[in-house]
Amino acid sequence: MKAGIVNERSPMVELQNVSKRFGNVLAVKTASFTLLKESVLTILGPSGCGKTTLLRMIAGFDVPTSGEIFIHGKPVSSMPPHQRSIGMVFQKLALFPHMSAAENIAYPLKMRRFDPKTIPDLVDRYLGIVRLTGMGKRRIHQLSGGQQQRVAIARALVFSPDLLLLDEPLSALDKKLREEMQLEFRQIQQELGVTTINVTHDQREALVMSDEIIVMADGVIQQTADPIRLYREPSNRFVANFIGLTSLLTGQVADIRGADVEILIGSIALKGRTSENGLVRGSAAECAVRAEQVRIFRTGDHSAVFDNVYEGVVDQKIFEGDRMVYQIRCPALGDAVVFAFDHDPTYHTFHQKGETVGIGWNARDMFVYACSDTQVKQKGGSL
Ligand SMILES: Nc1ncnc2c1ncn2[C@@H]1O[C@H](COP(=O)(O)OP(=O)(O)OP(=O)(O)O)[C@@H](O)[C@H]1O
Ligand SMILES: [Mg+2]
Repeated sequence: MKAGIVNERSPMVELQNVSKRFGNVLAVKTASFTLLKESVLTILGPSGCGKTTLLRMIAGFDVPTSGEIFIHGKPVSSMPPHQRSIGMVFQKLALFPHMSAAENIAYPLKMRRFDPKTIPDLVDRYLGIVRLTGMGKRRIHQLSGGQQQRVAIARALVFSPDLLLLDEPLSALDKKLREEMQLEFRQIQQELGVTTINVTHDQREALVMSDEIIVMADGVIQQTADPIRLYREPSNRFVANFIGLTSLLTGQVADIRGADVEILIGSIALKGRTSENGLVRGSAAECAVRAEQVRIFRTGDHSAVFDNVYEGVVDQKIFEGDRMVYQIRCPALGDAVVFAFDHDPTYHTFHQKGETVGIGWNARDMFVYACSDTQVKQKGGSL
């Protein structure tokens, strides 16, 4: 999406304080957001957080318990799904197995009574868009998982819907194919400029495919931001922990001046930054630092200059091909566990399990949040 154009675009979908209750379960709680035309919004969150419920309300399959949904500026509470001009791809693709790929793609055109003479050309065009030219005659079972995926996307797009809704359509694919399809879908979306809401619990998919991301937990929107801002400035502990590999350290506020904050863990003061107003001296706080911001070095290496420097012991190391992931226990920080990546392409700097190492990170890379006692108890994490 080109910078500067965003503000000129009009809203396609708007949710105002939308909630959905199923008996005792509040599946979605007062969700509000605006989706601009031609952009991709991803709803990201763990299983059961209300993603599908949100999508189903926008599609018209579920009615909000309270709040209002607007499409093109008009409330849609009394508009049935088929009048909403929405294409959908769900996790279970729901392709018709007895039909060919082309017949599947033609189906929504027939349902919408398109002129039969125009249908073959449209089907061919969309087979081309999803890179399946020449495969229209194949039955669904004669196509690979990724190819079936593309048929489903073509079928959702062929009638030029105003809005495309994707509910984890890539989750059944293996990792490599899924990552290819993420890039490919992004390209198709940009070619066609179709406004899209994508649902996933895969953070990479959200970062790769979206103009904007909404992170949800327990039915509540935690943060709405573009991918870079979301990653670099998580607004709370949940978002910081859900995206990226993050170490969480709990302590007490020792000092606070504007965004600069010092946290006491045991007798050690760590420097970090905060955007919260609720922190005062003495209050319980939680610090989050991403593994790629933590440097690991040999003890006594004084060339390493960071705001926070400690010694730790390598508890675990895991080789991931392009990097080594270390889990380091820090006695000085009350045995807190800190994760660190090492991307050294020469493999020369790797450390051994049990080795004492230095670790360091800067204040600007450690986000500090106010935390309740329950959050303190829930702390932890492992590789
Ligand atoms: N028809 C229903 N009746 C009762 N409870 C429901 C219904 N649909 C969803 N829920 C509940 O609402 C909550 C949110 O469900 P939802 O399907 O929206 O989650 P989700 O984020 O899509 O999860 P997943 O990633 O597992 O698909 C869950 O606690 C679920 O059990
Ligand atoms: Mg779901």
